[in-house]
Amino acid sequence: MQYRPFGKLGFDVSTFGMGCMRLPTTTDAEGNTVIDEKEAIAMIRHAADSGVNYFDTAYVYHNQTSEIVVGKAMQDGYREKVRIADKLPLWLCDTYADMERKLDEMLERLQTDHIDFLLLHSLDRKRFDYGKELGALKFLDKALEQGKILHPAFSMHDNIESFKYILDSYPFEMCQIQLNFLDDKLQAGVEGLKYAADKGVPVVIMEPLKGGKLANNIPKDVQALWDGASPKRTPVEWAFRWLYNFPEVTTILSGVSSMEQLQDNLRIFSAPDAKPGVMTADEQALIAKAKEIYMARTKVGCTGCAYCMPCPQGIHIPDTFTMYNDLVDPETSEKAKAKYANAIKEGVDASICAQCGACEAVCPQAISIIDVLKEADAALR
Ligand SMILES: NC(=O)c1ccc[n+]([C@@H]2O[C@H](COP(=O)([O-])OP(=O)(O)OC[C@H]3O[C@@H](n4cnc5c(N)ncnc54)[C@H](OP(=O)(O)O)[C@@H]3O)[C@@H](O)[C@H]2O)c1
Repeated sequence: MQYRPFGKLGFDVSTFGMGCMRLPTTTDAEGNTVIDEKEAIAMIRHAADSGVNYFDTAYVYHNQTSEIVVGKAMQDGYREKVRIADKLPLWLCDTYADMERKLDEMLERLQTDHIDFLLLHSLDRKRFDYGKELGALKFLDKALEQGKILHPAFSMHDNIESFKYILDSYPFEMCQIQLNFLDDKLQAGVEGLKYAADKGVPVVIMEPLKGGKLANNIPKDVQALWDGASPKRTPVEWAFRWLYNFPEVTTILSGVSSMEQLQDNLRIFSAPDAKPGVMTADEQALIAKAKEIYMARTKVGCTGCAYCMPCPQGIHIPDTFTMYNDLVDPETSEKAKAKYANAIKEGVDASICAQCGACEAVCPQAISIIDVLKEADAALR
């Protein structure tokens, strides 16, 4: 495993950090989708045994069960070997006391007495200002003093101006941004990465594979680009390579939903050249071409994070957007239409949207979900 210094904090962290938002799932006795606990714990421990020393979870992941599973995995001496990042959802806090209560709950779920990195979760300017009014910055100071957290941090999905505004508002010791070769100019983007690094704030990357879009269902013309390159690399290798090439990137989080994916990522991040500054000009040009093709095919930039779920009406919003994007390609459009026909049959198609807006309030990509669902419904019928 390759490691990098975590800014000036005085320790090194594995270049691959395990995201615990997309753990393997199974179906329980009542038919609900739940984390496959045994497999998830085996994966977390295998990652730690293989040198991964950074794990990322959040209060809300997997219907508030990710922390619990991470906590179980951290028993038997694992907690002492790794650093945990966890995230406080300000949108579920109405009072200062709510933040304190949530933090205590997080510690309990994780079965630990401290969280290494506590992030104010999924900030945009509005949510950050709301948090400030609630006393979130004082809350961070106090949690630090009490030793309940070691480093205050935030994750963000907003534009570059808001990113700088938030970063400059408090002595944050880490920030987490969405970055991949399609999103180099989206949200904080590469400009934000460099801005934070210049200030000495370590940057952790989320959605490096755009939630799996850069790993699965690769468009034929993109695959042809990858196939023509020498040496030959998988789509996942190219996407990670574009990121670890940046010296400003500290840790790259990827959510893995199977042991095979975990093993693949361990292999990629253990390669001797998984280091900053390794990409040639030709490789950069190849990535730029792939980006061009992807951008021409994307109707909606959903990353499948599922923050919008569950929809009160039962619509599977990320799946609907995947089907909508799949319409662009003749190879996938028929399948998408057939899948949508099933959703209609089951009465969970996009036309039943009640326009409550619960999804839009939490979408990190700021997608106008209500409108795009209408578009998708019209196009997929
Ligand atoms: N703070 C925030 O607001 C926020 C938002 C999003 C994410 N995060 C955190 O950041 C982490 C990383 O983001 P992410 O999970 O979206 O990362 P990602 O790497 O962009 O996407 C993960 C998905 O990529 C696919 N994948 C991963 N490794 C693969 C491999 N070797 N081969 C084939 N497919 C592979 C899997 O898709 P399939 O499961 O479809 O196969 C997996 O679920 C999350 O887990 C979470 O901890 C935070």
